[in-house]
Amino acid sequence: MKALIIGGNGFIGSNLADALIAAGHKVTSFDRYPSRYRETDSRINYVYGDFANHGDVLDAVKGNDWVFHLAYTTLPASSNDDPCYDVRSNIIDTLQLLDACREFNVKKVVFISSGGTVYGVPQQLPIQEDHPTDPICSYGITKLTIEKYLKLYRHLHNLDYVVIRLANPYGELQNPQAKQGAIAVFLGNVLQGKPIDIWGDGQVVRDYIYIGDAAKALVRSAEYCPEEDEPRVFNIGSGQGTSLNDIVKTLKGVVDKEVNVMYHPARSADVPANVLDISRAKKCLSWEPEINLGDGIRKTWDWLSHVSKN
Ligand SMILES: NC(=O)c1ccc[n+]([C@@H]2O[C@H](COP(=O)([O-])OP(=O)(O)OC[C@H]3O[C@@H](n4cnc5c(N)ncnc54)[C@H](O)[C@@H]3O)[C@@H](O)[C@H]2O)c1
Repeated sequence: MKALIIGGNGFIGSNLADALIAAGHKVTSFDRYPSRYRETDSRINYVYGDFANHGDVLDAVKGNDWVFHLAYTTLPASSNDDPCYDVRSNIIDTLQLLDACREFNVKKVVFISSGGTVYGVPQQLPIQEDHPTDPICSYGITKLTIEKYLKLYRHLHNLDYVVIRLANPYGELQNPQAKQGAIAVFLGNVLQGKPIDIWGDGQVVRDYIYIGDAAKALVRSAEYCPEEDEPRVFNIGSGQGTSLNDIVKTLKGVVDKEVNVMYHPARSADVPANVLDISRAKKCLSWEPEINLGDGIRKTWDWLSHVSKN
């Protein structure tokens, strides 16, 4: 199939491009910027443009079977600072994308939603897809809104879709200087001899998924051909909960450097715990994670150590 990845030169997009190519698909990456970490790949068709520009998006969508929507303007922790911006930049531009997908008869849109924020404070763990959705950050609300529009566009226009409620991905090509992605940020600090910053007491539990496993799930989700009443919303994570303090412990066993931690006051947009139930994805997508946390952290450390030397 011909796949377009909007945001294809970022962390998840680049790993997804590799997974799609490995599965025999053709990839176009649409992004504002080239990859921060790697040279261009002759197997990928690169298109540069702005997701906010309808003309750029129309040109990019034309001729593709699948569209993966990964470009987003906000992050969970900062989205509450300016909800108007979150709504304006993410929801409106996504609707323009969906209109382009209708116009060019795209077979499937895969949207990366957020397993960490759409449910809000969980009533029970692990969280199933039919758990109530009460986000405590604007980012979670805009992700959910887009999920609803996808359902509406399928109902009105027969545009098919899959929603991936992704947990916390980590691994190669993740920016250690970003404001999201605890494992890469922690490892980046250790590499530079800086302390690790933890907001709260470090007991906050999250579901960390190695990016190679997440990328395979994304490919499976595009290949998946559901019947009318079959699920289109999937949690993708490891299904395991790990506290930040446990991450630090695992990381100490991997890195050959001193690890220091500084604790700061907790942030209001952080839910206390989030672990996803991934049984629906296992069943419908014939997928399950293969890389455990220790091995994944080692792979990430090896990659980061390598890029920091070049
Ligand atoms: N990384 C995570 O922890 C995580 C977790 C759950 C969901 N997600 C979602 O996954 C998606 C991708 O995340 P990521 O971690 O790969 O982010 P990233 O920042 O590494 O990659 C995003 C890419 O999109 C591009 N982009 C952003 N705005 C654009 C625009 N207007 N026009 C063209 N390109 C644009 C950026 O240049 C970048 O290359 C986002 O929707 C994010 O909300 C991420």
